[in-house]
Amino acid sequence: MTGPLSDKTALVTGSAAGIGLACARGFARAGANVIVWGRKNLQVAVDQLGEFGVNVTAVECDLADHANTTTTIKKIVEEHSIDILLNNAGIIRRAPAVDYSWDDWRDVLAVNLDAVFQITQTVGASMIARGQGGRIITLSSLLSFQGGVSVPAYTASKHAVSGLTKALANEWAQYGITVNAIAPGYIETANTEQLRADSDREKQIRARIPAARWGLPEDIVGPAVFLAGPDSAYINGHVLVVDGGWLAR
Ligand SMILES: NC(=O)c1ccc[n+]([C@@H]2O[C@H](COP(=O)([O-])OP(=O)(O)OC[C@H]3O[C@@H](n4cnc5c(N)ncnc54)[C@H](OP(=O)(O)O)[C@@H]3O)[C@@H](O)[C@H]2O)c1
Repeated sequence: MTGPLSDKTALVTGSAAGIGLACARGFARAGANVIVWGRKNLQVAVDQLGEFGVNVTAVECDLADHANTTTTIKKIVEEHSIDILLNNAGIIRRAPAVDYSWDDWRDVLAVNLDAVFQITQTVGASMIARGQGGRIITLSSLLSFQGGVSVPAYTASKHAVSGLTKALANEWAQYGITVNAIAPGYIETANTEQLRADSDREKQIRARIPAARWGLPEDIVGPAVFLAGPDSAYINGHVLVVDGGWLAR
């Protein structure tokens, strides 16, 4: 398969569904071999990506399991040369701050922040050792700019992820590695199912989006392929908002 990402290998976390699956498909369509990472249910991704004639490897591991994630990412970098890392997996738990449980706080931070650092640290080290540069993209959120409603751990994790993106860009730009984030607006996935099921909230949100529609996972694919490819070489430490105009309002 020839395309802007031909001969590259991409690792995408949380690629069983939603934005991760769409971006993994986009990378495969652009010619990259893809390693899909999820807790379970990766066969759909393997079948869909396989149609593009690229190599697809499936890795099952719960990112909330720190020890297993360490072993798994070390094995991946031993067996593959990762050119592109998309830290996509993320979870959200909704409750007002006064009722927010410690378990929810810890679970969200473990997946959305700890695992992102853990994986990026190992992949970044392997990119530096190979000396051929690399592309690292992390899914942040509008809630790295705003407070959100009853999602304190999620908001804290996404502010942190945007900060980490800039910190790593500063350190690794000298190696030809770019580290950027994509901050999606309101996208139709399992992550926003509860919001879309509440018809008043759904209408309020849609009314504030200048594009007058919720985003689709496919809306994130073009930006992800661009940040993963050769044309974005001088963009580093950037948080690219893809929100139908929400923040401009
Ligand atoms: N949707 C939005 O409006 C929106 C807006 C801003 C930012 N984002 C961010 O975009 C990213 C993707 O979200 P999405 O909307 O596509 O959500 P999604 O449809 O819920 O997909 C999330 C993916 O991550 C995986 N995942 C979750 N916890 C995991 C774990 N512990 N180990 C391994 N995989 C795990 C899920 O697998 P399982 O099926 O096994 O749970 C799923 O495949 C997230 O970082 C999210 O915060 C989304």
